[in-house]
Order: sequence, then C-alpha cells, then structure tokens
Amino acid sequence: MNNYFSIQDIDSLPDWVDEAIKIKKDPLSGKNLGRDKTIGLLFFNPSLRTRLSTQKAALNLGMNVIVMNFTGEGWSLEYGDGIVMNQGNSEHIKEAAQVVSQYCDVLGIRAFAKLENREDDYNEKVLKSFIKHSTIPVINMESATGHPLQALTDAITITENQKNKKPKVVLSWAPHPKALPQAVANSFVEMMQHMDANFVITHPVGFELASHITKQVPIDYNQKNALKDADFVYIKNWSSYQDYGKTLDNDLSWKMTQEKMELTNEAKFMHCLPVRRNVVVDDAVIDSKNSLVIEQANNRTYAAQLVLTKILEKS
Ligand code: CP
Repeated sequence: MNNYFSIQDIDSLPDWVDEAIKIKKDPLSGKNLGRDKTIGLLFFNPSLRTRLSTQKAALNLGMNVIVMNFTGEGWSLEYGDGIVMNQGNSEHIKEAAQVVSQYCDVLGIRAFAKLENREDDYNEKVLKSFIKHSTIPVINMESATGHPLQALTDAITITENQKNKKPKVVLSWAPHPKALPQAVANSFVEMMQHMDANFVITHPVGFELASHITKQVPIDYNQKNALKDADFVYIKNWSSYQDYGKTLDNDLSWKMTQEKMELTNEAKFMHCLPVRRNVVVDDAVIDSKNSLVIEQANNRTYAAQLVLTKILEKS
C-alpha cells in the first residue's frame, strides 16, 4: 500500500481487522520493522487521539517521530498552479512536500474541511496536493471529507464487541453548538457498507450526507424508530451537506439519552471523541457500562499501527 487516503485502500476488511486484533495482543511484535525510519505528522488542526495514538503506533514499530503543528508554526502554503505569490502565502506545496519527503519516510496529514466551499473541500486540495508532490507514502489523519483511521478503529471495535453475526448498527446525528465537517460520518458510512451489518442512518431532514457516500444505505428520519433493536449506536454531529457547512436548526431533541438507549437491544454506545457532554449525549449514556468510547480511543493505536505496518512492509 502506497498511501492510506480512504477506506478504499483496504483490500480485505476482515483480514485487516483480524491483523489489527493480533497487533493489539502483541503490540511490540513488529518493533524492528520501522527501525531507522521516520514518520512526520503535520497538523493543520487540533488533535488529541490521532496525534498520540499515531505516535504510539510508530514508536511500537521502532520508528522515529517528528510532529509539527503547521497552522501558526509552518509557512502558509500556496496550492495553486502558476500563481504569482505576491499575497499572503509564503511557500508553495511543491517545495514543502518535497522538502518534508527528504526528512521522513512516511507522512501523516490532518487537514479538516473549511466548510466554506463544498467543491473545494470535496476535492481534498490539501491532502491530494501532499500526495501528488510528496515522494513518500501519505496517511490521512482526517481530511476534509474522510477519517479512515477512525473508521478502521470503529470496524475493529464493533468486531470485538458484536454478539451476533449481523448486528444492527445505527448512525445517529446529534446536535452541536459548532458546525462540524462530515468526515467522520462519511468514513463510518463507507466502512459499514463493507461490514456484515444491518446499517441505518438517522438524522433530521436537511442533514443528508452526500449520496455518492450513502448510496443505498437506508435513512430513517424518525430517530426513535431507527434505534429500535440496535446493537450499536454511533452518535455524531455533522453540518449540512446540501446547505453546505450550515447547522440549520440544530434540534436539541436529537441528543442521545438513556431513555432512547432503552429502545435498543442493550446497544453499545460509540463516539469518536471529543464529545460535548449533555449536548451530544447525556452523562448517563457515555458513563454507562455500554459505552465503548474509551475502548475506541485505545483501538486508534492498533488501527494506525496496522496501516503503518502495511506501508513499511511494502517499502
Ligand atoms: N477522534 C479523533 O480523531 O480525535 P482527535 O481529533 O482528538 O484526534
């Protein structure tokens, strides 16, 4: 595997999940694979889990790690071809990507959606430009439209916790005070289409995700109906795709409560974190024995370690 850009880079999901669970049982089994190799992690946005779990994964493989908070510390980058650079941007992606490629063997990039222009975000300008101009493999650490490391983590976590062969999994929109990208939801939806699950999305009218992502996945606008008999409930806010980047009415009645969880088949509660308590989900749900959020965060290390293992084995 050259790059981990999206979940389409996973050739066999069951095999990948099995391999990640094996890594989790013996995280230092590949401790020499990355010896004398360096990973560079460039962050254009904040992070707790992605930053630390990817570092931990690299360290487990014996790699050196360089981390840079690009926004505020790096030169502001220009991405356009043939641009006269007499405005605010100081360095072109062509030089920046090639220079970083000389210092590192693998590169991770986090660059969220700006939520100003849908076409720009869905063209993945930042990540695709790094992939185009770098000479080393690039890992998506959450881009404008996808978070494939999180989705792989979620597949691992569901597999570890499922009690029946074909669980019912519900992705439920949640209210949030800020407009958030669709990246986590997009990758989760794509991932669930590769899993043997009865998968349903529920959200208020106006929060439909891109149809090229949801494809044939059923959408139920009645949250309580969708939650019936669910085995896993994944809560996530996202802003409108149609009315791009808007939060619309931000209906607080979509918060996940214990009363709603009682409609389910004692469902496990999932969220990628960070989460706004008592806005997105009540304390009673996230603190319950059925909450998987801490386990999900733990599995971020093994998802990242698997992706790095595949890249290092190929190189
Ligand atoms: N879930 C996730 O990506 O967390 P961070 O934003 O803290 O990295």
